[in-house]
Amino acid sequence: MNILAMTILPIVVYGSPVLRAESVEIDSTYPAVDQLITDMFATMYEAEGVGLAAPQVGKNIRLFVVDLSAWGEDEPELEGYKRVFINPEIYEYSDETGLYSEGCLSLPGLNEDVSRPVTIRMRYLDENFEPRDCEFTGRPARVIQHEYDHLEGIVYTDRLSPLRRSLLKSKLSNLTKGKYKASYRTK
Ligand code: NI
Repeated sequence: MNILAMTILPIVVYGSPVLRAESVEIDSTYPAVDQLITDMFATMYEAEGVGLAAPQVGKNIRLFVVDLSAWGEDEPELEGYKRVFINPEIYEYSDETGLYSEGCLSLPGLNEDVSRPVTIRMRYLDENFEPRDCEFTGRPARVIQHEYDHLEGIVYTDRLSPLRRSLLKSKLSNLTKGKYKASYRTK
């Protein structure tokens, strides 16, 4: 049995160029990908997040992890909902949209309602680099779209109305200046 030691990685905060760069696809020869996935889950749990994308730990590769188990109490099908997504491609979005309050470990202290499609279809590779093609709806679709945006260099505040964004201007600029409080390690 191969047990990997976990390392809690510092989380990159808004203002860093790594959150704005486009991320590249990887294949199974990517060095120490199992270790990276293990560390990303550990880092996400430590920060009490439900999703974490590789750019948030400083790597511009198309990989993100989610664990929605925390919502299992009010949505039993999310019990044990722990997934790895590699090289994802969302290729279908529902016309129906919904508003949902989002936060991001890279934007500590902020929460905003974001409008997004309720249902998506996505192709991706799982942690064994096996291809999958699935429909996601509700909270999984919400979190997946948020993490997917990170791979495109987008953060959720980009999706707010210009008015809402201008109201957040000073908070966002404080993040870029390092003026924020987070209960987890950042950089
Ligand atoms: Ni995020």
